[in-house]
Order: sequence, then structure tokens, then C-alpha cells
Amino acid sequence: MKADLLYEGKAKKVYQAAKQLGKLVLSYKDDATAFNGEKRASFAGKGHLNNEISSRIFEYLRERGIDSHFIEQLNETEQLVNKTEIIPLEVVVRNVAAGSITRRLGIEEKTNLYPPIVELYYKKDELGDPLINDEHAILLCNITPVELQEIKTKALQINNHLSELFTGLGVILADFKLEFGKIKDDIVLSDEISPDTCRLWDKETMNKLDKDVFRQGTGNIIEVYEEILHRLEAIV
Ligand code: TYD
Repeated sequence: MKADLLYEGKAKKVYQAAKQLGKLVLSYKDDATAFNGEKRASFAGKGHLNNEISSRIFEYLRERGIDSHFIEQLNETEQLVNKTEIIPLEVVVRNVAAGSITRRLGIEEKTNLYPPIVELYYKKDELGDPLINDEHAILLCNITPVELQEIKTKALQINNHLSELFTGLGVILADFKLEFGKIKDDIVLSDEISPDTCRLWDKETMNKLDKDVFRQGTGNIIEVYEEILHRLEAIV
């Protein structure tokens, strides 16, 4: 199914799909990193869990009219996706304050943020993925003002769908990060949506069911990712 390795990132490997120009195979790794790669570890089964979770979420979104690069899950750790021209932007949507916004702006954790806040980060490891504004994004990311508006509108639509999904699972979607790519002139959701890229809190206990248990060393990452997958399996 897969041919040459094109790229290896922190959490995934990207292969050219065999005999299918324009398609890629994403292979989810067991590695976890935090704080821009300063903290690293490997957890057996994490790649499988994120592949299952992200595949289900992209299918859920597709059924609601949100197209992504996702085509199909191939096996435990791999999925087939359409190749996109990556836009070097991390689009973060926040419903409840946590993480960097609490540190940067002094907003107390768990403060409700309504309407949701959309933030843009320039995806550039050497610079530590800095927070940028719209004009910076248009300058640095090879997108037009109209395309940026489309990205933000899509991010908020996705937030509506995901918030409804997770509410049904007894989970608060505090925040998450999206990436988009271009296929010809179309802007398409890409990368992954998983507990690596979302903050997910149990509604009853407020326990963290995401990568913060690794970032903060407060729990078992495999157990909490399994919890998210089990809840998703019940309805998606
Ligand atoms: P944020 O609070 O900005 O950063 P940090 O994790 O350093 O506190 O993160 C907001 C959300 O976006 C959170 O769910 C994690 C996700 N995210 C990523 O998936 N990758 C990233 O590189 C960043 C900065 C955030």
C-alpha cells in the first residue's frame, strides 16, 4: 500500500501511497512529545488509538459536510489520505481557557470563552510556532484574505460539530488545534484530530482525557485515550 517515506514528524510518518499519485499513507507512531519536543516518550498502542480516534472523527465530520484529506482507515496504525499542499498554520479554537492562553493573558483555567476564540500560530519549529495575527498569516502562509476567512469559518463550524459530538460523550471540548491544506484551490481540513491535539475533560469529574496527562505527568496516557475511544465507539 505504501511506497517511499516522504516525511517523519513527531507523531506520524508520511509515505507516498503505492501507485496512487496524489494520495499518501499516514502512519501513526507511539511517540509523544510536549513543550516543542523537549519532553519525549513512547507509549505502546498510542499510534493505534489516535488512528482509530482521528479516523472516526473525520468520518463524523464528513457525514456533516466537512471534507478533509481523510479517505479511509487502512489498518491499526495507518490511514489513506489525499495529498494536500500544507498551509503552515495551526488554527486553535478555544471554548474554555487552558494551556497557553492562561499563561499569556492571565485568564484563569476553566474560564468559559464565549464566543469561542480562534487563534493562529505560524507552524515553524525553529521559531517555536509563534502566535500570529491575520496579516502575518496572509504574508507568511501563502493564503489570500478570503482563504483565511474561509479557514476561520470552517474552524468554527468544526468546533460546533465537535462540541456537539463530545457533549454527547460527557466530555467538555476545552480547545483543539486544526491544520488545513490546499488541493488545487480548495481549502481542506488535514492532519489529525485526537487527544494529542484536543483538550478533553470529563464533564462529571473534570478529569483530563488528553495529552495533558503526559505534559503534566498526572496520569496514564493510554488509559485516557482508550476512554475517549470507548466513548466514541458507542456512537460513531
Ligand atoms: P495551547 O494551549 O496553545 O498550547 P500548550 O499545549 O502549549 O498549552 O494549545 C491549545 C490546543 O491546541 C491544545 O488542545 C493543544 C493543541 N496544540 C497542538 O495540538 N499542537 C501544538 O503545536 C499546539 C501549540 C497546540
